[in-house]
Formats: sequence, structure tokens, C-alpha cells
Amino acid sequence: GRGAAMVTAVALRLAAQRREVDEVLAPLRLSHADLQKVQALMREEMERGLCKETNASASVRMLPTYVSHTPDGTEQGDFLALDLGGTNFRVLVVRVTEEGISMASEIYVIPVAIMQGTGNELFDHIIDCIMDFQTKQNLVTERLPLGFTFSFPCQQVGLDKALLLTWTKGFSASGCVGQDVVQLLRDAAQRKQHLGMKVVALVNDTVGTMMACGYDDPKCEIGLIVGTGTNACYMEEMKNVGTVEGDQGRMCINMEWGAFGDNGCLDHIFTHFDRVVDETTINPGKQRFEKLISGMYLGEIVRQILLVMTEKQLLFQGKPSPKLQTKDIFQTKFLSTIELNGLALRQIRAILSELELDASFEDSVLMREVCQAVSLRAAQLCAAGLAAVVEKMRENRGLEQLSVTVGVDGTLYKLHPCFSQNLQKTLKDLAPNCNVSFLLSEDGSGKGAALVAAVASRNANAMQ
Ligand code: GLC
Repeated sequence: GRGAAMVTAVALRLAAQRREVDEVLAPLRLSHADLQKVQALMREEMERGLCKETNASASVRMLPTYVSHTPDGTEQGDFLALDLGGTNFRVLVVRVTEEGISMASEIYVIPVAIMQGTGNELFDHIIDCIMDFQTKQNLVTERLPLGFTFSFPCQQVGLDKALLLTWTKGFSASGCVGQDVVQLLRDAAQRKQHLGMKVVALVNDTVGTMMACGYDDPKCEIGLIVGTGTNACYMEEMKNVGTVEGDQGRMCINMEWGAFGDNGCLDHIFTHFDRVVDETTINPGKQRFEKLISGMYLGEIVRQILLVMTEKQLLFQGKPSPKLQTKDIFQTKFLSTIELNGLALRQIRAILSELELDASFEDSVLMREVCQAVSLRAAQLCAAGLAAVVEKMRENRGLEQLSVTVGVDGTLYKLHPCFSQNLQKTLKDLAPNCNVSFLLSEDGSGKGAALVAAVASRNANAMQ
């Protein structure tokens, strides 16, 4: 009768809708073979970055860090540390003793106007924050060695000389690219006649994280960040590092894997949404791998998908609210909340209504599916990168089975309810001969910078 006909009509409409949703999301779903391909490509780019002849044109820069050992527990002293380039700018004092590490820190804001102003303004601001911190902590009379965690790609010539190759993650302060960042900081200190510090080492946040975790676990020889940006470092054999003299021992390599794909090698996996997101950043064409994975971009990918789905009448009854047209409206926090297991759809609707999106029950369900597709792909791609790293380390060491720890930090990794699980599961599939543990770092970059500073100032004192 008519009832049955109506049921069939609804069922047909739903099936058609389902097909359309699947079509929109299909390009984001990566098969095992796709991921193996990404892993193999990463491995190729790693070789190109390490090799002296190809390094200059490699998209994965594989930058030497001049850190040749993970901590051995003999590091000691009081240090200042700076952490610039993540969600927060922080100044820390770190006390390393035989009994362990203690620290105090303060978060400071870097206004966008300063991130994107001049280099002098940026570094003057940093010195102001350090002076404020030292005053508050009663540390003005001392001249403390300082370790600087600077989370941007630098060509290092030594522990305390680092030329900025390019800004990433929304920074663009002028007059810094090509300059020695350590010198820029020292110059600013001089301008402000601040004598209470002595910059002894600069490290990437991946390196700081590896060192901090390495202090607790000697098997930690990889550092991973999945936060505002994404990147990894690991201990490579010196004989494979064509860009530094010497064949003995190992050196930590800052991969700068965020730039993987900038030479076009990942074009086959970029979707329409990824291209739009890339085009609206301040560095189009750059950091293409990072833009698929890290917290600064996932929300934007989600928003682009929602816009297309709305256009196709699959969401919000085809009516996009002005809010949905606003860049950066979805923060990564929001992705994490929406995917929380057990979060009632009612709560999702509440979040959406805050964004002035009048979401139906069906809208909320679909919205969650979109978030899941985007964050799953991010975790899988990150795993493919990591699989290339652990497999290379295993081969380097001629082992059948490698057992290694990854020190991890970053807001996305820490806050997202399924990212780490998805990452670890995919890594097992892609690198079955590696037994990889993950160690979350607590205040890793600051602690790690202090540990590197400890080694640097010990060596400097020994030479005096
Ligand atoms: C960006 C930076 C890199 C940093 C990463 C994580 O990719 O270029 O140096 O390690 O973000 O903060």
C-alpha cells in the first residue's frame, strides 16, 4: 500500500544520500597499499635529504642537529629554557640534579602582530618575557646558560649556530630567514642590556622531546611532535649523514618531515579539500604533509568538507551559515570533543549551535563521520612516516627485530581521543618487525633543551 511505498521512498533517498557521502569522503580513505606507498616515498626522500649531492633539492631536509647522544644521567646544573613555536611560548627554569629534574615555567602570549611583524620586535618581545620571568623567579643576579627550543627548520652548523631556513605554522617575522637565530636572540639581549643569560644551545622541539624522554628511557631514540605542526627526529648513523664530516657514532637528525610532498611526490593523495586549505595559508605549496596531519589544519579540512556537503544538500538542509564560511572556526580541540566516545549527539548539537550551525540529529552523525575520516587519515599518514623511520633504523643496525621508544608531544596527540591508537595500530601493520613503544613527554621541549644545554656548557667549560 501507500505506507510501504513511502518507506521505500525514504529508504531510497537515504541510500542515495549514503552513496553521495561516501563519494565525498572516498578520496580521504587510504588503503593499506596507499600507506605502504607513502612509507616508501618517505624512505626515498629521507635518503635524498641525507645525501650530500641531493640534500639541497630534497623536500625532507634531514637536518643535522649536532646532538650525538641521548642523555646519560650525568647532566647537571640550573638552566633557562625557551620554548617557541608551538601552541604556547614558554620560559622555564630547569634544575638538573643527581636526584632528577625539577622546573618552573610561565606561559607568555605572542600576539599575531608580533609573529608576523619584524624579527627585532619578535626577539625583543622574547627578551622582555625572559626578563619578566627571571624577575618573578628571583633569578636576576645569575648568568644562566640557556637552551632554546626553536621549532622551525634550521640549518645548524653547531649546537649554538642555527640559520633559519623558512618560517612555518603561521610565523612570518621579517628579517629572520637566513639569519642565525641564536645571534638574533643574543643581539636582542644586548639591545635590552640583559646580561642574565648565555645562549648555549638551540634545539628543535622534536629533539627536545627525544632528549627529555631519553632521560627516563634509554631506548628513546626518536622524537615525534603532533601538535600545531608535525615533525620527527631520530638517531642516524654518522656514516649515512653525508652532510656532516665524520663517520663515527650517531647524530640526531631533525627530519622536517612536514615539508614531505612539497616536491609533488604526494600529489596523488591530496584531495580537493587539501588543495583549498593549502591555498588559503600564508605559505601555499609548503609543508604539504604537515597540512594533512597537524592541529593547525585539520579543522580547516573538516570545514571545507562540510561546505561541499552543504552545497550538495547533504548537511544543514543545504543552508550554510555565515559562520561555516569563516576560516579557522573549527579548532582541533573541537575535533577532539566531537569524536569523544560516548559523547551524546545532543552534546555535539550543542557545540554546533555555538557555531550558529543549526544541526539536526542526522547532521551531527554525519559531522562526526567527517571528523573521524580526517583524523584517521592524519594518524595513518603519520604512522606511514614513522614506519619509514623505524624500518631504516632497524636496517641501519642489521637487526631482525628493532625495539625502540618514541618520545611524543603535541596537543593533537595528547588531546585527541583516537589519534594515538590509530597511529599505533597502523604502525604495527606497516612495520611488523619493529616493536615500538610511545612515551608521552611532560614539558619535554623545555626539559630537553636544558639537557642539551647541560652537555653544551659542560663541553665549553672543559675546553676553557
Ligand atoms: C613545523 C616546524 C618543525 C617543528 C614542527 C612541530 O613542522 O617546521 O621544526 O618541529 O612544526 O612543532
